[in-house]
Amino acid sequence: MKIKQSHREIRDYWEQSPPMSFIGEGLNYEAKREFRYSLQDYMHDVFRFSSFAGKLVLDLGCGAGIDSAEFIRNGAQVVSLDFTQTGVKLTQDLLKEAGFPSHVIQADALSLPFKQNTFDCVYCFGVLHHIPQIEEALAQIHQVLKPTGQIMVMLYHKDSLLYAYSIIYSRGIKEGMLGKFTPDEILSRYSERREGCPYTRAYTKPEAKELFGRFFEDIQVEVHYNVIDLPGERKTKVGLPDKYELGWHLIVKGQK
Ligand SMILES: C[S@@+](CC[C@H](N)C(=O)[O-])C[C@H]1O[C@@H](n2cnc3c(N)ncnc32)[C@H](O)[C@@H]1O
Repeated sequence: MKIKQSHREIRDYWEQSPPMSFIGEGLNYEAKREFRYSLQDYMHDVFRFSSFAGKLVLDLGCGAGIDSAEFIRNGAQVVSLDFTQTGVKLTQDLLKEAGFPSHVIQADALSLPFKQNTFDCVYCFGVLHHIPQIEEALAQIHQVLKPTGQIMVMLYHKDSLLYAYSIIYSRGIKEGMLGKFTPDEILSRYSERREGCPYTRAYTKPEAKELFGRFFEDIQVEVHYNVIDLPGERKTKVGLPDKYELGWHLIVKGQK
């Protein structure tokens, strides 16, 4: 995919569109937590937040901070990082409301401000597929991980029902966008709640294995989150077992 979007354009989009923030909806921390983990109900099984008790975790691209809070409530020490002021402020506010310690910094995944071998785990949920220079970000992550450290990432999955039905069929064919736009452009436009994300890429399982395998050992890739987007109703659950590997989330884990 040709990279046309500037870093600034991408950051400006995220300044205005932090996910899971519920700005103006008056939800408290517990309500946001309940929403997040009942919608994405595979997350506790897969990420095992409690297994990081006593460890140092970097929540890279923390957004509104809901997963930072989940690691902390399960006993981890967490550094939360986002390149937007909005994400930093929302995470600080959320952690304060929850009564948790907060170490939140504004920085870029492409230039991480940490010493080598710092973190036990770098957790990066829904972020790397929005970074055109993903390999540079993976090299940065590799550097800041301890020698025994692990990476846990969520990327969008290309071989999924959501990509085939919601992006290619509904948007591309039924709404006639294919022909005017490439599939990648249609995906970027409609991947997030607020339309017009400048850059989103979806990965196949083999692509993710190959890409992460260039930087990390013992790569494991799982597929979860069986949902589609319908007109007027995003993230509608589809009663399909994970074994068909048609879900929207590719979970990649690896070791330094
Ligand atoms: C889809 S949101 C995910 C937020 C959070 N991880 C979650 O799951 O709710 C993507 C986040 O990544 C951040 N982000 C995107 N590119 C980044 C970069 N190059 N460096 C740091 N943060 C970045 C955005 O500001 C945004 O908060």
